[in-house]
This record gives sequence, C-alpha cells and structure tokens, in this order.
Amino acid sequence: MTGFGNHFATEAVPGALPVGRNSPQHAPYGLYAEQLSGTAFTAPRAENRRSWLYRLRPAANHPPYRPYEADTLLCSGPFDEVPPTPNRLRWDPLPIPERPVDFIDGLVSYCGAGDPAAGEGLAVHLYAANRPMEQRAFANADGEMLIVPQQGRLRLTTEMGVMDIAPHQIALIPRGVRFKVDLPDGTARGYVCENYGASFRLPDLGPIGSNGLANPRDFETPAARYEDDDTPHEIVQKYGGQLWATTQDHSPFDVAAWHGNLAPCCYDLRRFNTMNTVSYDHPDPSIFTVLTAPSDRPGTANCDFVIFPPRWMVAEDTFRPPWFHRNVMSEFMGLIHGSYDAKAGGFAPGGASLHNCMAGHGPDRASYEGALAAELKPHRIADSMAFMFESRYPFRPTRFAMETPLGQLDYDDCWSGFAKARLPREERA
Ligand SMILES: [Fe+2]
Repeated sequence: MTGFGNHFATEAVPGALPVGRNSPQHAPYGLYAEQLSGTAFTAPRAENRRSWLYRLRPAANHPPYRPYEADTLLCSGPFDEVPPTPNRLRWDPLPIPERPVDFIDGLVSYCGAGDPAAGEGLAVHLYAANRPMEQRAFANADGEMLIVPQQGRLRLTTEMGVMDIAPHQIALIPRGVRFKVDLPDGTARGYVCENYGASFRLPDLGPIGSNGLANPRDFETPAARYEDDDTPHEIVQKYGGQLWATTQDHSPFDVAAWHGNLAPCCYDLRRFNTMNTVSYDHPDPSIFTVLTAPSDRPGTANCDFVIFPPRWMVAEDTFRPPWFHRNVMSEFMGLIHGSYDAKAGGFAPGGASLHNCMAGHGPDRASYEGALAAELKPHRIADSMAFMFESRYPFRPTRFAMETPLGQLDYDDCWSGFAKARLPREERA
C-alpha cells in the first residue's frame, strides 16, 4: 500500500475487517477491536493520526513491566550525563559487536535534546547487531523511530505488517507500535532518530509546486499479516527514558486486519526527486528535506531529515561544495554510502559528525582547494548518500559519545592551515 499518511484498510483474512463501523458489538471471528491513537483525540483533522486494529487478543493482555535488566547504552532526554560541548565532534563507524547482540541491545545513544515527557526534542542512536530478535519485540512510548540502515538488510515485523528494508531505504515506526528486527544478512548497522515531538511528515513544497522531493506515492505501508503463535514473547518497552520488559504468552504480532492513517512506512531514498540550482550558488540544504518533524515555532523543526543524494552539480561561477557556515540549528550527520563532498577523508560510511548550534564548519582544506581548482563542467556526484538530522535543539552528547575511542580527537585539524586571504596593500586599514 502506498502513500504517506493515507487512510489504509487491510485484512490478512477475508472478512476480518469490519465494514461500516470501527467497533461492532461482535467483530468478525471474535477479533478484538482496539484503537491506536498517535495524536490527541481532538487534534485537527489534518494532524489527526489513529488506526483501528483487529487482533487475536487485546494488546493489554500482558503481565506488569519490570525494569529491563540487560546492559544498555541507550540513553534518553534530558541528556545530562556530561556537560554540553561547543566543540565539533566526529566518530569512526560503530563496529559490529563480537558477542551476540540484537537490535534492542545494539542501540547506542550518541546525543539528544529535550525530554520525552515534554513531547519535544529527539535522540540520535546508532545500532550494530548480529542477532535476530526472534521472540522479542520492542515498543517505544517515548517517540517514533526513524531507522536509517547503513549496512545489512532489516526485516521489520510490526503489529501492522512486515517491511523489508536495506541500506538506502528508511523506515518510520510510530510511537508505541510493537516491532521486531531480524537480520537477513546476519549483521546490520545504521542510525536511528527517536523523535519525541510531533511526528515526521512531508515538508511543504512552496514554489517548488505539487511534485518533487520525496513524493507521497513512494512511501510504502505494510499489509496486515498476523502470527497465531502461543509461545512466550518478551516485550521490551522504552517508557519515560528507561527500558522495561514483560513476557506474555503469545506473539504481539496478532493483528489480522487494520485500518487508519497511523502506520509504519518505508521509503527508498533513491526515489528522492532532487532539486538544486541550475544557475549559480546553492540553495540551503533544506532543499534536500525528506521528512520534517515540526516544533511549535513555525519553520523551525524539532527535526528535519535531510539527505545528500547522487545529483548533478552544474552551478556556474560557484564554489560547489557546501560552504563554510554557522547555523542556529544543530546538525548531526551520518554517511550511508560513498564519500561526502565537503570532506576529503575521515568521514566514513557508518561514521558520524556533530556540528552544534553556531559551530563553524564546512569543507576541509583539501576539499576547499580542490573546489577552487576545479573546472566547472557539469559534474555528477554519483556515489554518495549522506544524511543529516537537523534540530532547533542543540544536541547534548552522551558519556559514551564523549569517551568512546571511536571519537576523532583531531577533527578540528581539518579546518587548520587555510592560507590567509590578502587584501591589496592600499586597502588595508
Ligand atoms: Fe552544516
């Protein structure tokens, strides 16, 4: 099923979906009708997100949660383990673990801002895993999860169906939806944005018009699929910044039919319809926005998910790589594939960088000098897929992020050694 935020209707068994009413006295086959609300009941119609699930047992059918006891590097707002830093940070890729680790235990928090209880802010995690979740499920009451694989395919089994994604594709799991992650390639690595605020949606297009950037028809939502499995399943839930666990006597993926506009979806970043200049200069990188999660300040996102995909560079008389800049918004970057045109080295696929509010950054010296010397023919950046989580909230790093040996202590050096510009002698003050 395709489209973003559409009202979908799907049944894994003919006749499982009630017709004409959401909660009939007797739902088909004795299924339990259950509403999943992703917005307040009274949210304006254009914002309102909810779905009705028809399942073998109510989701409520589980014992109490207890604190999750396994070791975790997953952190949550308010991110006050270590003081915030104005410094620019960059990390080498997270290695695939040597001991068996699944997606839940493979989540490592790098930074974040805000507070899930306040409903604003976000967290950035990386994951590295080598074990399927099997009879475990995860649910996040604190935020929706935008999953950006960098290495290895993921099979995402959710309450509302199954999605298979690979690097260059993304998945969006709504707050509260139970899901598990299996690893068809045996190992996997990637990035997660956990959004505590209003949910991601497509950006307005303004003068671009009615087509372009990520087109709604390219978002795919799974059809209903259920497991009739009465074996124990552990449910791990992130709630209030902590992990909790319970074990129920059946699969949580027992939804035989559902309808509504709150659902997981996935998208192939290679379908992004990239816009850029055909004359001179750069548009701001917001021209590459795939999804935006707004805040209560107009045009100032809790999180923009922005990509730097393969594209033609044709600008005349223009310094073509990203310019030097300082930004009131804060920028966390990752690299899915290839190399990034502002850095000659050091930013590897699976790595990450953080340029917080007003941190000066831009091309390194080698990229700068290469761009000055370049003959400005049409040039295709053919082999690259970088992305950015950009937020109005400065990211506060975790203790792990500040202390891991993956941190590149010499990152500042890439902006050293620039020759001083020389004004004509008579113009000097
Ligand atoms: Fe930047």
